[in-house]
Amino acid sequence: MIVEAVLSSAASRFRGRFAGRSVVITGAASGIGRACALRLAEEGADIVGLDLSAEGLGALAADVTSRGGRCETAVGSVADLDVVTSAIQRATQVFGGLDGLVNNAGIGGPMQPFETVPVEDFDKMIAINLKPVWFGMQAACAPMRARGGGVIVNVSSMAGLRPNRNHALYGMTKAAVISLTHHAAMDYAKDNIRVNCLCPGPVETPIFEQMRSALGPAAYDSARTRVQQRTLMNRFGSAEEQAAAVAYLMSDEASFVTGVAMPVDGGWSISDGRV
Ligand SMILES: NC(=O)c1ccc[n+]([C@@H]2O[C@H](COP(=O)([O-])OP(=O)(O)OC[C@H]3O[C@@H](n4cnc5c(N)ncnc54)[C@H](O)[C@@H]3O)[C@@H](O)[C@H]2O)c1
Repeated sequence: MIVEAVLSSAASRFRGRFAGRSVVITGAASGIGRACALRLAEEGADIVGLDLSAEGLGALAADVTSRGGRCETAVGSVADLDVVTSAIQRATQVFGGLDGLVNNAGIGGPMQPFETVPVEDFDKMIAINLKPVWFGMQAACAPMRARGGGVIVNVSSMAGLRPNRNHALYGMTKAAVISLTHHAAMDYAKDNIRVNCLCPGPVETPIFEQMRSALGPAAYDSARTRVQQRTLMNRFGSAEEQAAAVAYLMSDEASFVTGVAMPVDGGWSISDGRV
C-alpha cells in the first residue's frame, strides 16, 4: 500500500532520531502498540514492551533485534500497577534511564446501553483503560525528571472526543484519558515533561474481535461499513499511521507540543455522521 511505503521511507529518513533514548510501551504485543515499538526502534529507541501476551512480545523482541535494535519485555497485566512500575524501572536498570512512555494498552468496552452495563464491566474498564495511565505517568515522572525531561503519549480514542451509541463505558474511559493528559501536561511542563494524547480513528486490529463476536459477522460488517463511512476519507487507518503520529509527538520536532489530544482518524471526529 502506498501509505505504508511512504511511512517506511519516513522511518528510514528519521533513523537515529531516538538514539540513546528509552521508551516503555504498554500493549506492545499487537496492533498500534506493536507498530509504535517497531517505528520507534527503527528510529533508534531502546524499547521496553509490556503486554499480557508473552508470545506476542517474543515476536516483537525478535523483530526489533533482527533490525539491530534493543527490546526488553515485561509480561503481565497493566491492571497490576506493580507490573507497570517494574517495566518502568526496567528501562532505568537496563537502558540507564527513561525518556518516553506510551500508555497504549486498552480493551474495547461492551456495546450496550449504559443502564444495562454491570458494575464488574465498569470496574474492569477503569482498571485496564484508565488506572494504569494515571499510575504509569506517576511512576515515569521521577526517572524522566532525573533525565532532565521526557515525553508521555497516552492513547485515547476518537471515542474520547465524540460519542458513539451504546459505547458509553469505553468512551468515558477514553475521555478521562484526555482530561488526565491535560492535567499532567499542566503539572509537568515545569519539569520539561511533555504529555500528549493520541486519538486514533478506526484501525482493524484484534481489538475489533470483541465487537465481531458480540455482534456476529453480518451485523459486524454493517457496523464496520458505517464506521468507515463516518471517516471523511472513507477508509480505516493502519497501525503504522498511528505509530507515525506517536513518533512525531515523541520527537524533538514536537518540542513545543504539550497537552494536545491529536485525532489521527481520517476526519472521523469532525464528521456529522451518526454511528
Ligand atoms: N484499533 C482501533 O480502532 C482503536 C481506535 C481508537 C483507540 N484505540 C486504542 O488503541 C490502543 C491499542 O489498541 P489496538 O487497536 O492496537 O488493540 P490490540 O488488541 O491489537 O492491542 C492491544 C494490546 O494490549 C494488550 N493488553 C490488553 N489488555 C492488557 C492488560 N490488561 N495488560 C497488558 N496488556 C494488555 C493486548 O494483549 C494487546 O497486545 C487501545 O488503548 C485502544 O483503545 C484503538
